[in-house]
Formats: sequence, structure tokens, C-alpha cells
Amino acid sequence: MRKKIAIASDHGGVDLKDFLKNETFSIDIEWIDLGTNSSESVDYPDFGYKLADFVATDQAEYGIAICGSGIGISIACNRNEDIRAAVCTDSTMARLTRIDNDANVLCLGARIIGEVIAKDIVETFITTEFETGGRHERRMKKLKQSH
Ligand code: RB5
Repeated sequence: MRKKIAIASDHGGVDLKDFLKNETFSIDIEWIDLGTNSSESVDYPDFGYKLADFVATDQAEYGIAICGSGIGISIACNRNEDIRAAVCTDSTMARLTRIDNDANVLCLGARIIGEVIAKDIVETFITTEFETGGRHERRMKKLKQSH
């Protein structure tokens, strides 16, 4: 199995982005790197919007968005109505956000977690399926409705 995964970060997440791209996971990954590509200061909304648009238009199955805390870029991603972006700090959160929320963007805080934990989170996120039907699907439909 090969999955297309888009990955983006601001300057605070660029090292973790590069680390993850060079790791081996249990499934084959085609990485689509949407930047940034240096430690020069950039604005996380620019990269969050770009990644969200990429995933929302089905150009990648999942997105991984990284900033210092994971929070700023998650707020940016979630402004796209087709995106469910979740900040995860451990693999339990990653598993539950796939099963319960069908999260399609994983957000990581490079200044919060280390590389080994980040790798575990990514592995869990990309290998866990949404629990279709019933209450989870009903709740997801409500998230799509305007209110
Ligand atoms: C950048 O310095 C930092 O503000 C950003 O990476 C992020 O943590 C914002 O939420």
C-alpha cells in the first residue's frame, strides 16, 4: 500500500518535517513537501492554508502540519470546511482522532514533542481507519452543517 501524504510547516517545524520525511513507516509514503524549507521566519497560516487546500482537493490522502506548538497551524487548517485537523501529543490521541473524528490533517508541535514520539504519532495516524457508521458519522455530518 502506498499513501500520498502532504506535509508542511513553518520555520519552527522545519526540522521535524525533514526528520519525518526521512523515516521509514509500516506503509510506503509518497511525501508531498509544501514547505517551508529553511529556518527563515515565515507565517504559519500561509502553510496551513496551502496544506488544507491540498488535502481538501484530494491531492493527498492526509496532511501533516507542523509549527512550534501545533496549535497555530491547526487553527489555520481548520478554517477550511473540508478539513478536520487535530493537534496530537501522543499516539492515543492520534488513534482516537482517526477513529472518532476521521481527522484528515495531523498537527504536531515541534517545540512540544520529540522526534520519537512524533514518529509514533504519525505511524498511528496513517494506519488507523475511521469507524464508519453510527454515532461518529452522525457527528461528522453535524460538523459539516452551518450553524
Ligand atoms: C513561531 O515562532 C510560532 O509562533 C509558531 O510556530 C506556532 O507555535 C504558532 O502557533
